Amino acid sequence: MNEAFAIAILAAGQGTRFKSKKAKVLHEVGGRPLIAHVVRAAQALSPDAIFVIVGYQAEAVIESLHELAEPQPGKSLRFIRQAEPLGTGHALRCGHAALQSTAPRLLVLYGDTPLLTPLTLRQFLESHRRSGAAASVLTAQREDPSGYGRILRGPDGDVTAIVEQKSASPEQLRIPEINTGIYCFETALLWPELERLTPDPTTGEYYLTDVIGLLTSRGQKVAAYEAAHAAEVMGVNNRAEMAEVDAQLRAQKARELMLAGVTIIRPETVLIDPEVEVGADTVIEPGVSLLGRTRVGEDCRIGAFSVITDSEIADAVNVQPSCVIAGAKVASGAGIGPFARLRPGTEIGPEAKIGNFVEIKNTRVGRRARAGHLTYLGDATVGEGTNIGAGTITCNYDGEKKNLTVIEDDVFIGSGTELVAPVRVGQGAYVAAGSTITEDVPPDSLALARSRQITKPGWVSQRRKKAAKENSKPAL
Ligand code: UD1
Ligand code: CA
Repeated sequence: MNEAFAIAILAAGQGTRFKSKKAKVLHEVGGRPLIAHVVRAAQALSPDAIFVIVGYQAEAVIESLHELAEPQPGKSLRFIRQAEPLGTGHALRCGHAALQSTAPRLLVLYGDTPLLTPLTLRQFLESHRRSGAAASVLTAQREDPSGYGRILRGPDGDVTAIVEQKSASPEQLRIPEINTGIYCFETALLWPELERLTPDPTTGEYYLTDVIGLLTSRGQKVAAYEAAHAAEVMGVNNRAEMAEVDAQLRAQKARELMLAGVTIIRPETVLIDPEVEVGADTVIEPGVSLLGRTRVGEDCRIGAFSVITDSEIADAVNVQPSCVIAGAKVASGAGIGPFARLRPGTEIGPEAKIGNFVEIKNTRVGRRARAGHLTYLGDATVGEGTNIGAGTITCNYDGEKKNLTVIEDDVFIGSGTELVAPVRVGQGAYVAAGSTITEDVPPDSLALARSRQITKPGWVSQRRKKAAKENSKPAL
């Protein structure tokens, strides 16, 4: 880019068509708030400044962009308040004081067009520069243009005005060329026209689109640049459109991964957030969700309907169907599930096996250790090669605080054991099935902590005989 320009993003509206308590631009598509997609596209252009006009739930909108508010030139964000939602023209006018001293050229974007790409924006800016016009409008041809403003052109092809759907004549409604809400202005010419805007007689709003007609009525040239991909400039006005856009972003992400060597079975059913990384030759089964900052290595299999959030899965890990994994690390060659739950602070060692209905929280499980069935491990460490029998429970909570359980290497914990923390089981020790362990078990020892079994041979048949005798007595 050889000439200075700034970007303004309008994001102050409530989005009444969303019928939501939450501001429209905060709703997520493809794993990010609507506004974050637009801000990212803006940052990719490295402009001199980026202004975001906020109003409805301003603090929450600013907070949602927290991660993107980098202090680098061309990336940092400046926020401008629109106190009342009086329309897109009014929103931009709120930026006058802050914006006029920045760049001579202003690219305006709406916060509800999340599919926008930097490439399209660059081409648009370039075409504006070449046109020498006072303003340019990015337009698109739509099979169904309803809801959008229509582009009116004069005989020479130049834009004469934009007419909003609500004010359009039946003839104008048939125009398939729509206003995408993306404009480039020579700022010196923009501000006086923004001041001249009058509210729309029916809605009472100041329309930014009216600036186009004002400019041309003064003999200024307005150019139009048609977007190559109409779908990219789609505005999201309700939740049905949000679902369409989400599906597109999800499909894009899945496609990127597939082209990078990941097998995805039925990609239309998976949900993969934008920051997620997956290594080559990993297979993702239907209905899987990979969310947040999850990283999956190579040669893994992620079983159907597993949900993995903010977790690190190393290479060659087999996650069987229906596992829920969050904030966990799983080392290479480990096997998880089906129906396992790994909660934050869990680290599963290489080649360890975690089976069905096992819940693990804040626990390190060593290399080749196994917990195959129906177990809860919380606030514990499990050593290498240790076997945790079915139905083992760490009793980590005493009603006030969480206590630690340490199980050293090569331990055998029999089925149905309760380990009452704080407690330590030494290396190589055996704990008999059904034990309630309340004291430390030294290495290489056997701990039995269950009541002794009493067996009374013949007891049942004797009782039966006694009962039969009583029943045969004649009634008195
Ligand atoms: C707008 C355009 C329409 C265009 C369409 C493209 C106007 C008058 N109409 O209509 O020509 O085809 O976008 O998607 O501009 N906003 C504010 N403050 C306000 C009102 C809105 O900041 O007072 C923001 C919203 O948060 C939103 C953006 O401006 O991000 C667009 O507003 P929206 O109400 O969605 O406009 P449309 O009716 O879609
Ligand atoms: Ca819109």
